[in-house]
Amino acid sequence: MGRIALVTGGTRGIGGGISRALKEAGYSVAANYHSGIEMAREFCDRTGIPVFSWDVSNYESCRKGTVAVSEALGGTVDILVNNAGITLDGMLHKMLPEDWIKVITTNLNSVFNMCRAVVNPMREKKFGRIINLSSVNGLKGQVGQTNYSAAKAGIVGFTKSLALESASKNITVNAIAPGYISTDMTEAIPADVREKICSGIPVGRFGRVDEIAQAVLFLADDRSSFMTGTVLSVNGGQYL
Ligand code: CAA
Repeated sequence: MGRIALVTGGTRGIGGGISRALKEAGYSVAANYHSGIEMAREFCDRTGIPVFSWDVSNYESCRKGTVAVSEALGGTVDILVNNAGITLDGMLHKMLPEDWIKVITTNLNSVFNMCRAVVNPMREKKFGRIINLSSVNGLKGQVGQTNYSAAKAGIVGFTKSLALESASKNITVNAIAPGYISTDMTEAIPADVREKICSGIPVGRFGRVDEIAQAVLFLADDRSSFMTGTVLSVNGGQYL
């Protein structure tokens, strides 16, 4: 197939599952990571997916990191999955300014940084797939997540605007809004709150990483060319 896919935060959690699924589907995959070098090396050994370290919240690092990926994989990025993200949950009346800024720069500025790094070669090639990971909580809000929900809602507007700008160049830009998925991130939610959340999910459980990866495969495919500017909810039927 020969298409090159880059997944940010692609060595663990949802991103790890996306990287693996893309590789299994025949793409040439690179996984970005920032912290957790041991885990990233172990992921690379286990999957054969090359890993590249940079901070997605830094514009220049994204530019350099993308060049390094292109050199290593022998071509420019065809499919970008903006998955990297963090939570620093807290009620607004107690939230520190640095926790607001860190979440906005890591979860939203990163999407600008990465798209800016890959979009010009995509425009020249007249092909591209950009898939941005939003969240159910960017669509409906969540207690303790003003920072996270604002960033994830920002991704929706960004996605729709870039989709309009890119449509004539055969580049699709879509968002996926996962619900609660079993990962380290959701493990960190206090147990009583986790139970409360689970009872509000119609299918009665948290989702699996492979259930998000499946949606990414669909949007990455050449045949999804008429679908752009959308937000695909994969959340077990949660009310929005
Ligand atoms: N859903 C419903 N109610 C919630 C809630 C949630 N997600 N989070 C907190 N609450 C409720 C609590 O049950 C509590 O209610 P009562 O006053 O009736 O007891 C009230 O809000 C205040 O909560 P705490 O007593 O826990 O207050 P705190 O200041 O100690 O902690 C908190 C607040 C940091 C927000 C903590 O409750 C928490 O971590 N909540 C989980 C927030 C959450 O859902 N994060 C999602 C992480 S996963 C993710 O983000 C991935 C994704 O895209 C879906």
